[in-house]
Amino acid sequence: MSSGGFLRISGLCAGYGGEIAVADISFNLARGEILCVVGESGCGKSTLLKAILGMDSALRIPAGTVTLEGTELTALAKKERRKLAARRIGMVFQDPGSAFNPIRSYRRQFIETLRSRGLYDPSAFEGQAAQALEKLGLEDCKRILGSCPYEMSGGMNQRIALALALLLGQDLLLADEPTSALDATVQLQVAKELLRLREESGITQIIVTHNLALAGFLGDRIAVLYGGRLVELGPAKAVAAEPRHPYTRSLMGAIPTLDGKLPAPLPGQPPLGGPAKAGCEFAPRCPRASEKCRSAQYALRDGGSGHFSACCQEGGAL
Ligand SMILES: Nc1ncnc2c1ncn2[C@@H]1O[C@H](COP(=O)(O)OP(=O)(O)OP(=O)(O)O)[C@@H](O)[C@H]1O
Ligand SMILES: [Mg+2]
Repeated sequence: MSSGGFLRISGLCAGYGGEIAVADISFNLARGEILCVVGESGCGKSTLLKAILGMDSALRIPAGTVTLEGTELTALAKKERRKLAARRIGMVFQDPGSAFNPIRSYRRQFIETLRSRGLYDPSAFEGQAAQALEKLGLEDCKRILGSCPYEMSGGMNQRIALALALLLGQDLLLADEPTSALDATVQLQVAKELLRLREESGITQIIVTHNLALAGFLGDRIAVLYGGRLVELGPAKAVAAEPRHPYTRSLMGAIPTLDGKLPAPLPGQPPLGGPAKAGCEFAPRCPRASEKCRSAQYALRDGGSGHFSACCQEGGAL
């Protein structure tokens, strides 16, 4: 879906138990690219990130490949994959509490993590940590490192987790709603920091967000998930300004703007139980759905300039 060959996702399916939560996910990212993933609750955003990381024991990946700079992660033995992921992939989980032990100081946890990866240099640590925290707009490194996660807000925890990923020198960052616990002004600040991380360190990023306006600001491209499938993928500005898929259009009206204006809810519910075998997932909620939509085979089509849509109506433009 792009010439980028840093990260290649091909035909990825993932789910829990007997259920498939995301299916047929394919896209490529170039080094340093930022992809924002949007979609309603339950559409599979977190599952997609977890499937790329490949470290969740509850998650099954029955099909598809994830390839990082020529190394197919999905073909590696568990131990090898864990080692490679620890070295190269930073993950900021949706639940900020899960990144850290709440009652151990950040300093101890930073040091333990660095040490476990052979990256701990006692004489350089304080300076490096201060630099990483500063890049996320956090000053007073000594006080932060001496604090425990339970003393911090969820938003602070997420930013500190981002700083740790930076400290580890990982070159692929997967961040699950890293700004959701923050107010609108701080969200924008964190988005600017993420852009700076890319400018200064070339870190490739996949950022999950509920906020399409933020995705338009931060992302080079936007991927829209619905019912576990990619329904639209394209340059961020084009997806935000001229969405092709009716779901993205509905979402545009239902998502808060950067200044935090209240959303109008999207009528109806997203599908339960993962992608259906036939028909467009969105057809039951789509104001323009026809008979064709209920039987159409899923396919992402390029409407020009790398702007893909899975709307089965011609060209995706209704
Ligand atoms: N650990 C799990 N075990 C079983 N099912 C799960 C698990 N995690 C997620 N699911 C299911 O997989 C589907 C996709 O969930 P996922 O958490 O990926 O959605 P999401 O887009 O991240 O939602 P949200 O915006 O609420 O975070 C949902 O139907 C969800 O119920
Ligand atoms: Mg999620």
